Amino acid sequence: MFDRCGIIGFTGDCDAKDILLGGLRTLEYRGYDSAGIAFFSEGKIKTIKTVGKVDCLCDKVATEVEDATTCGIGHTRWATHGGVTDTNSHPHTFGNVTLIHNGIIENYQELANELAKEGKKPVSQTDTEIAAMVIDSEYEGEPYEAIKKACDRLDGAYGFCIMFADRPGEIYSIRNGSPLVATYAPETGAIIASDMVALISYSKDYFVLPEQKIAKLTKEGIVVTDLSGAPFEPEMLHVNWDVAAARKDGYEYFMLKEIHEQPQALMKTITPRIVDDLPDFTTDGIGDDIFAGIDRVVIVGCGTAMHAGLVGKAMIEKLAGVLTSVEIASEFRYANPILSDKTLVIAISQSGETADTLAAIRLAKEKNAKTLSVVNVKGSTIARESDYVLYTHAGPEIAVASTKAYTVQLAAMYLIAFRMAYINKTVSDEAIKGLIKCLRRVPKDVEKMLKYDAQIENISNILNKAENLFFIGRGLDYALSCEGSIKLKEISYIHSEAYAAGELKHGTISLITDNIPVIAIATQNHVYGKTISNVKEVRSRGANVILITNEGVSVDPALCDHQITLPRMDDRFAPFSAAVVLQFIAYYASVHRGLNVDQPRNLAKSVTVE
Ligand code: M6R
Repeated sequence: MFDRCGIIGFTGDCDAKDILLGGLRTLEYRGYDSAGIAFFSEGKIKTIKTVGKVDCLCDKVATEVEDATTCGIGHTRWATHGGVTDTNSHPHTFGNVTLIHNGIIENYQELANELAKEGKKPVSQTDTEIAAMVIDSEYEGEPYEAIKKACDRLDGAYGFCIMFADRPGEIYSIRNGSPLVATYAPETGAIIASDMVALISYSKDYFVLPEQKIAKLTKEGIVVTDLSGAPFEPEMLHVNWDVAAARKDGYEYFMLKEIHEQPQALMKTITPRIVDDLPDFTTDGIGDDIFAGIDRVVIVGCGTAMHAGLVGKAMIEKLAGVLTSVEIASEFRYANPILSDKTLVIAISQSGETADTLAAIRLAKEKNAKTLSVVNVKGSTIARESDYVLYTHAGPEIAVASTKAYTVQLAAMYLIAFRMAYINKTVSDEAIKGLIKCLRRVPKDVEKMLKYDAQIENISNILNKAENLFFIGRGLDYALSCEGSIKLKEISYIHSEAYAAGELKHGTISLITDNIPVIAIATQNHVYGKTISNVKEVRSRGANVILITNEGVSVDPALCDHQITLPRMDDRFAPFSAAVVLQFIAYYASVHRGLNVDQPRNLAKSVTVE
């Protein structure tokens, strides 16, 4: 099940409707099939909600609401429990309680049965309304007590913003799993949301609401307490990006903007970790003790993050000589993995909130493994729960398809491999300096790749009628094939598979017939000839081939329909450039089909429940 919602709460001196609707637009990437707001108006709570995008909600608010309000909550939803209907949209009200929710209440059926015995029936099919009913049933005029008692009864993931009918101007929030960040801006008021992108217009300073702590928002400020009511001082964080990063800035889609942001993101991620031409994590507070005495590395992640792990594995094994495996986090957590205090578990996650990856880190800690996370979102749960964190500096990634977050994850994994090799003395200092030199060049290499945009747009026409296609490659090119395939599938809805090129003949080649597109990646010198043999095999069975190679190799023109040549570089660094090609291919395949590139069906940016 997915967490696919964006939530926001505001109370202060400004018009809450503007702040809520503006915030929901920035959060729409988290869920986009219905939206709603609830606000205090003349002492009562009024709710406006509708199926459709935030634009539909804005229209409805513009025509139906004249009242001014300074306190309210807003939600953008992707349905999980209950279909896409106005009734199932949030906010939900029961009795004194009006609630928005991000997450899943797992025991909602059991709770619904208990409430039914008291004669209480929900009007929607949502787990959220059940949560509202539970809180209301515990409410006797004391919000803290009601929230505490209700949360004792709720199982699952939640981020709540709650308003009580008899407490105008106040919003209460609590979370378990699902993210919530908050800030107080004296000229505006108190604001809480699922993501910093909704807060950035008001402040660059914020805090992550810790799990099982209650935030009370009023126009005077935000008070955080534990469940017993004792004050709690949350750690303040600061973001180093600004409001422009959360806007499209003239690009048609966030994905295209984010592809173009890669040189900068890479520069910011790589540069601070190089001291005297050597990899250095001193400013990250990552001591070498985490790498010392390690006999095995296990990399965990989901989707694209896991694919970055595949590249990381190759680099760590090749350079540092440490046995490394890559595990899909959702499998790892139930596989009773063999871990010890000599295992380093590296979790990779853009959001830092992915439930399976978080569970993997928790399991690793339980089993005494050392934990290091590679995370993009500052202060996120995975970052906080790992022994050490290496932040990537991609800035906010809004498009569901991960692009810049992936290439900075690669950069982080290269740096980790270099540092391990340096400590283990498996590679000479001079050779490490040579690798660092290549890594420093990566932002420039990727910048050059951005100029391939028009060429790839044109080539991508070959995919216009495709229903199935294959990505093939060997070694690092296979890892890239996996990434190319997920990118294409998620935003163009074309079915594709990534295959280790040498594995085709063991079954899959029977699917290669006339005009099936095959995207072959052949950037790795030591297996180049082998991959080309596999390209010949598919070509002779009628495939339409797009071949990605390094500059300077001569390719028989009969072998492919299109060749894309990457600028000359050390082939160990080809994944960065090849990634950009694959991102453009997926992007244009989606654009040519007239799809919503940034908000593909059925998907969520951040998957914070199982
Ligand atoms: O936030 P995370 O990096 O943990 O997310 C993991 C995956 O859900 C994510 O990479 C997903 O595969 C992307 N949408 C792919 O583009």
